[in-house]
Amino acid sequence: MRAILIGICVGAVGMIAIGFFGSSAAAPPHESSTDTRQRLIFAPTQRDMMLTEMRQMLGSVSGIVQGLAANDLPAAEKAARAAGMMHAADVDPQIQKLLPQQFLGLAMQTHMGFDKLADQIKAGNSRDDTLRGLATLTGNCMACHAMYRLDEAR
Ligand code: HEC
Repeated sequence: MRAILIGICVGAVGMIAIGFFGSSAAAPPHESSTDTRQRLIFAPTQRDMMLTEMRQMLGSVSGIVQGLAANDLPAAEKAARAAGMMHAADVDPQIQKLLPQQFLGLAMQTHMGFDKLADQIKAGNSRDDTLRGLATLTGNCMACHAMYRLDEAR
């Protein structure tokens, strides 16, 4: 009798637990993404390359701002150069052929912009002018991010 009672209790607790966790863990009704940006599809390693380059560009923006804040223009120049054409992943022909013309144009303009900024700092650009140049460049980041996203081919 006792064993049966315990069995019923365990069963009841189990059912409550399944009901509780089961419902909370159930997949929510399918929601489609509200992200309407154009999806560019890459192989996983290509996407990794692109995103690594992006993080480097953010590193350059950060390095330039830090250089300007500390009034260390050589440091700002070095940071700007690090995002120049020499470091562009999108010059890889395999990646290039997957990119829309508009993307490529904006990407090249951005890398060349960093080189130009580095040249200008080297030539004695003031902090204010450097900051203005950086503002133009970050406008490119914003413009491209508003249009495209990178997805992995499955
Ligand atoms: C020509 C287009 C383009 C330009 C210019 C561009 N990006 Fe990106 N960036 C992208 C795309 C596309 C993604 C992927 C976004 C997504 O899938 O949601 C991305 C992602 C990133 C990421 C996320 C990286 C990660 O690991 O997920 C960072 C950080 C970033 N960009 C920084 C920058 C900065 C800083 C600039 C400007 C100095 C910049 N990007 C300019 C296209 C661009």
